[in-house]
Amino acid sequence: MSASKSNGSSDKAPALEQQEERCEGEIGGDNSMTRLRKDPNLDHRSDCYEDVKSDYHPALFSALERFLPSQLLDAPRDVKLQYLNKVVSRYVPRGDRNRVQCQREYKERIFNDYQSFIDAVKENTEESFKRILSEPSPGVYTFDMFQQGFCELLINEVENFERWVDATKLTVVRPNTMNKYGVVLDDLGFENMLDQLMINFIKPLASVLFPDVGGSTLDTHHGFVVEYSKDRDRDLGFHVDDSEVTLNVCLGKIFTGGDLFFRGVRCDTHVNVDAHTEEFFEYTHVPGQAVLHAGRHRHGANEILSGHRMNLILWCRSAVFRELKKHQHDFYSWCGECLNQKKERRQQLIDARYQEFFHT
Ligand SMILES: [Fe+2]
Ligand SMILES: [Zn+2]
Repeated sequence: MSASKSNGSSDKAPALEQQEERCEGEIGGDNSMTRLRKDPNLDHRSDCYEDVKSDYHPALFSALERFLPSQLLDAPRDVKLQYLNKVVSRYVPRGDRNRVQCQREYKERIFNDYQSFIDAVKENTEESFKRILSEPSPGVYTFDMFQQGFCELLINEVENFERWVDATKLTVVRPNTMNKYGVVLDDLGFENMLDQLMINFIKPLASVLFPDVGGSTLDTHHGFVVEYSKDRDRDLGFHVDDSEVTLNVCLGKIFTGGDLFFRGVRCDTHVNVDAHTEEFFEYTHVPGQAVLHAGRHRHGANEILSGHRMNLILWCRSAVFRELKKHQHDFYSWCGECLNQKKERRQQLIDARYQEFFHT
């Protein structure tokens, strides 16, 4: 970086208090009071700034420190840092400065709002997750996930994409074999974001809540948005997902009907076996709220009665689980019917022993 233009007195910096006043709120104005030396002091050993939280790389401050006015070379580190920050910020365009500032404030707000969620993920225990989740039916977890503003932004993005598809008459890949409307988010540039979401937040939850169906080894995803209304998809038939764990978040908009219904978890062999009464569960979507369930948890969506509903779906998959499954024959740890049959076999065994005992 070039030092400021020398006016012949560049290393005679006035006291810092004065410089702050001159620079405050007017970084692009008269900055003659905060300027660096033309030539570095090669004998000076710079401080380390590795621990400083800044939008600039710490090495930049260490490198620039040698260009400080000589009176400041031995000043406390925070004084030097303040001075250097003022100099460096002059080289960032005003628009970028605003953007960086907005991003910082946004990050802080997010971390404050989601502190309880982040704490629970860090703690990583069933108890900590149960503080932030509800389990209205066995194996179906719900929690608040997106704020209204984010839902609106994502809906806008999807609608822009749909308008572009209409205008160009292009054929696009739809989310899956059952949804004829909606978009694959991975194709819109969301792949990395959704991968981070899965690895950093869904996988820790799934490791604890769905350990028997590959929750701790999730490694790939398929992310998409589905749309329901009278002139789009109207309902969704009874099915299982091509996932180990599914995250389903309602984005809005305004609608009635379209409840999600669940009918128990089943392996491939028992996928068409009737549900038991205790496996019946219906869930009414709430914008911003997420549902997390095993992909093999059979479900469907009732017909939408009015309005327009959009949901973000993230199918989380585990290659390890799929490979292991090929070598197993029963799945009583998670399939309701395998468990039922195991219980029946045990009961038959007990009955047989009982008969044996009393008839001999
Ligand atoms: Fe599904
Ligand atoms: Zn089974």
